[in-house]
Amino acid sequence: MIIAVDGPVAAGKGTLARGLARHFGLRHLDTGALYRAVALALLRAGTDPTDESAAVAAAAALEDPDLDDAALRHEKTGQAASIVAAMPGVRAALIDFQRRFAAKPPGAVLDGRDIGTVICPDADAKLFVTASIEARARRRHEELQARGLPGTLEQVAADLAERDRRDAGRAAAPLRQAPDAYLLDTTKLDIESAESEAIAVVSRKL
Ligand code: C5P
Repeated sequence: MIIAVDGPVAAGKGTLARGLARHFGLRHLDTGALYRAVALALLRAGTDPTDESAAVAAAAALEDPDLDDAALRHEKTGQAASIVAAMPGVRAALIDFQRRFAAKPPGAVLDGRDIGTVICPDADAKLFVTASIEARARRRHEELQARGLPGTLEQVAADLAERDRRDAGRAAAPLRQAPDAYLLDTTKLDIESAESEAIAVVSRKL
């Protein structure tokens, strides 16, 4: 069983995807962490993330990435991730890893931007998770504060808007709701209600 969870920055995809994986006994892959890992490798090497050949080489070299590295979560890494994620060569280098992960029994929940449209178009269930920019900025700001990371609410909102624009505007696998994805707007939902709605949607597909 494969569940695709897509949506913009800080809409609640990660939390929902983890909740779905727990509920249905599936593995979970945060695919954004792969693009972040490519970006972090470049930042650590002092390479500009706009250097396409270096980014493609870093993506191809990503065999067993440490997806728990705290530096992956920095907003600077997220911004650089959305730059490398617009490069078709970087996306192509990461496809196999994601599809192999999804195909291993008993199946998986993958969250990202293009899971329902490109990586797993035949997923058993697809959710497109969204929320207003204000709600997303507030949540991301609280998350950064809880981790002791810097950023004012205004900065966070501006960063999110910029990343959304880049992710939705790029030619390669842009952020889009798949036609057969269920739209889950979490603006007015707490985590528990969003999770039970997601579980109900997926259960109907089984
Ligand atoms: O979801 P997260 O914020 O960790 O993703 C970081 C960046 O990676 C996104 O802004 C997006 O550009 C890119 N990404 C992508 N496709 C995915 C997951 C993430 O392009 N499936």
